[in-house]
Amino acid sequence: MAVISLVGVGAGLVLVLLTVALHFSKGTGWEPTADITQEVLERRAATVPETDFPEPMNRSIGGGGVAGAVAGGEEGGELEGDEAAEEEQSPADMPEDEVEYFEVEFVKQGETIELASNETVLDQGEDAGMDLPYACRQGQCVSCAGKITDGPADEYVTHFKQETLSDDEMDNGYTLTCVAYPKADFSIETGEAP
Ligand code: FES
Repeated sequence: MAVISLVGVGAGLVLVLLTVALHFSKGTGWEPTADITQEVLERRAATVPETDFPEPMNRSIGGGGVAGAVAGGEEGGELEGDEAAEEEQSPADMPEDEVEYFEVEFVKQGETIELASNETVLDQGEDAGMDLPYACRQGQCVSCAGKITDGPADEYVTHFKQETLSDDEMDNGYTLTCVAYPKADFSIETGEAP
């Protein structure tokens, strides 16, 4: 038994030595690069697009880029915050002690009534018993449009979420009564669309 084992071990040893000898005589052809740092950096730099960011953000890879993205995210958050703040500034939300009242003449109806600054022209006109035109009541059509005869609409009403009239149309006095809150005395012809 001992003889068989010695023969087996000897054969194994010969095979291992043969493999090692073959390996070193042939080689793998792989040579380590002496210094790959510069090459890697250049390859990375070539994949980074030019941006308007000032140096060194322009060239930042990895951590710097992430920092820039985070900063950008914060900036976006601020913008969203500003927009949200603007959205909250509905005249309907103003404190009761800040509400003002204005004389508004409804020319076609032959009525002049006092309107509060925290309710729409349409709502208050209806409350006064007038039959005024409307459809969406959300500033998205022109069914409730009217024309302020005194001048540019924005000088007499605050539009909240008005999405239909152009600046030129408002400059010509047109207003959407369903989203228009009075901020001065004025005369209006209802049922007048641009
Ligand atoms: S009812 Fe549609 S915009 Fe006023």
